Amino acid sequence: MAHSTAEDNGFGHRREFELGDDEFRFLAAFMSRETGIVLSEHKREMVCGRLVKRLRALKLRDFADYCDILKGPGAAGEVEHLVNAITTNITNFFREPHHFEHLRREVLTPRLAERPRRPRVRIWSAGCSTGEEPYSIAMVMADVLKAGEGWDSLVLATDIDTNVLQRAEAGLYPAEAAAKIPETYRKRFVRRVPGDGDRMQMADDIRRLIRFRRLNLHEKWPMKGSFDAIFCRNVAIYFDKPTQRKLFNRYADALAMGGVLYLGHAESLIGVSDRFEVSDKTAYRRIA
Ligand SMILES: C[S@@+](CC[C@H](N)C(=O)[O-])C[C@H]1O[C@@H](n2cnc3c(N)ncnc32)[C@H](O)[C@@H]1O
Repeated sequence: MAHSTAEDNGFGHRREFELGDDEFRFLAAFMSRETGIVLSEHKREMVCGRLVKRLRALKLRDFADYCDILKGPGAAGEVEHLVNAITTNITNFFREPHHFEHLRREVLTPRLAERPRRPRVRIWSAGCSTGEEPYSIAMVMADVLKAGEGWDSLVLATDIDTNVLQRAEAGLYPAEAAAKIPETYRKRFVRRVPGDGDRMQMADDIRRLIRFRRLNLHEKWPMKGSFDAIFCRNVAIYFDKPTQRKLFNRYADALAMGGVLYLGHAESLIGVSDRFEVSDKTAYRRIA
């Protein structure tokens, strides 16, 4: 398939846009360079489907025209749209709940012993998508540390996708998403939106604990000081092994000794980095 215009798709109807070999190869190389995300052949349909809206918005004839924009002086302005369209942002409150139990038991509760000093607690949600992960972390943190009672505690939440960050910052979610939040937290930390029965909002006390920032994980990290825990779940799965290795070693540098890195259920540090030991299911403690 070397074509890039409308074609019979084999089901008897013609498609508006076809993503040809050359254009797909170009877009895959561009995304890999910009974001580390690997787009193999089986992602071609997905890439095509997600970019069609953009081609229409720009009133382009075909994908070759779109690639020309990315090769030309307009590239810088288009990258954000491309990245926002291609990233996969699926997430949930308290996804993989065992990580939040581990965070409470192994990371936050031991810090209580440090009182009455004013301990500093820093957790990073790297690849936070629409915010359900950092809000889940912040709820556990508020519960264990009794936020506002002298703790210097913060969650840094970063993503490369500016659309999801905007939604995360608003802290507004469909009411049914709240069903994933344990009831005790829901009662304390989630508010009804006046005049809107379909949506709920995270309480200000929880929102205050989080700083949302745009950050490409493969660029320079401006943060100073070490983290007690880093959540990077269901993000590295889109990167190749050398990129993962480099990223996980940077996480080791960013974590305090003994700090914990949480990965997604399909991700692993085994054979990728020797600076961690297994602490629990897909939870790794920095040892070097
Ligand atoms: C599937 S979501 C995971 C959300 C959440 N961590 C979870 O497990 O529920 C993956 C997120 O990683 C982000 N991402 C992908 N590549 C990135 C990069 N190079 N830098 C920062 N974020 C990236 C995507 O934008 C997306 O929001």
